[in-house]
Amino acid sequence: MEINWEQLWIDARKDSVLAKYRKDVGVELWDRGAEEYSDTIKRDGFKYGEQMIDVLKSIIKPDFEVLDNGCGPGTLAIPLAKLVDRVVALDPSKGLLNVLNESAVEAGIKNIETLNKTWQEVDDSEIRARFDLVVTSNVLWQFDDICKQLRRIHDASRRYCCAILHAGLTDDLDRDMWSRIMNKEYNFGIDYIYIYNILYTRGIYANVNVIDSAYTFEKSVNDAIDYYEYLFDLYTEITPRIKRMIKDYIVKNAVDGIYRRESKTKSAVMWWEK
Ligand SMILES: C[S@@+](CC[C@H](N)C(=O)[O-])C[C@H]1O[C@@H](n2cnc3c(N)ncnc32)[C@H](O)[C@@H]1O
Repeated sequence: MEINWEQLWIDARKDSVLAKYRKDVGVELWDRGAEEYSDTIKRDGFKYGEQMIDVLKSIIKPDFEVLDNGCGPGTLAIPLAKLVDRVVALDPSKGLLNVLNESAVEAGIKNIETLNKTWQEVDDSEIRARFDLVVTSNVLWQFDDICKQLRRIHDASRRYCCAILHAGLTDDLDRDMWSRIMNKEYNFGIDYIYIYNILYTRGIYANVNVIDSAYTFEKSVNDAIDYYEYLFDLYTEITPRIKRMIKDYIVKNAVDGIYRRESKTKSAVMWWEK
């Protein structure tokens, strides 16, 4: 029996917490969270990106031109730029590209070109087989038409492609706080296994490394309360009761006025040669 992994992906997305957004957030979500995102990856010295790139060290060459699709605050683009000739960093969020550019200046990096558009807005004829490596890290979960977009990623590369997505349960949101406030378990619901199998059914047998990673969320109590109110507002109405629950949770778990949380995730780095 042939398993339709594309349909399973679509179903998983429908079942995921993402489908439960109560408003259309899109790029606005990324713009609003840009500073926080950037602070988080800088606090760890771009460790997450370094860990992902480490898997690709044997294939990356100094003369490579790399496309980082959905680059965010430069999680991979900044460490990658130190290893290759040029990085084209694409993201629809202006806010994220601004913080990426700031980090590049701070690090004395001059070989990143930013492109402010969605991946879907890119004209295929302009990028066909243009890059030595196309990476897309923690981006694909946003795409319903996954097969089409994977095909386009494959076509934009002349050598290697790399897709990164978490494996198993994510810990990106405080699951304990979520279950208290939402009265149900937090389950992101999508992970790399669908991508791996979609590639497999198309004759692409990706190499996979599953990497343990961790990042630290750290904010003053007041900033943490603001941040979680903004986050939960995506999913539910922030009633006075929920406001109180967020505040109580953060105050209770803060130490010396700082709310700190280490988030642990497993990331699957899938890469293949054309
Ligand atoms: C979880 S972040 C990942 C950022 C970075 N690659 C990383 O691993 O930290 C998801 C990123 O996808 C970007 N994004 C959202 N829609 C997109 C689209 N249609 N095309 C390309 N990127 C998109 C967001 O702006 C955001 O930067």
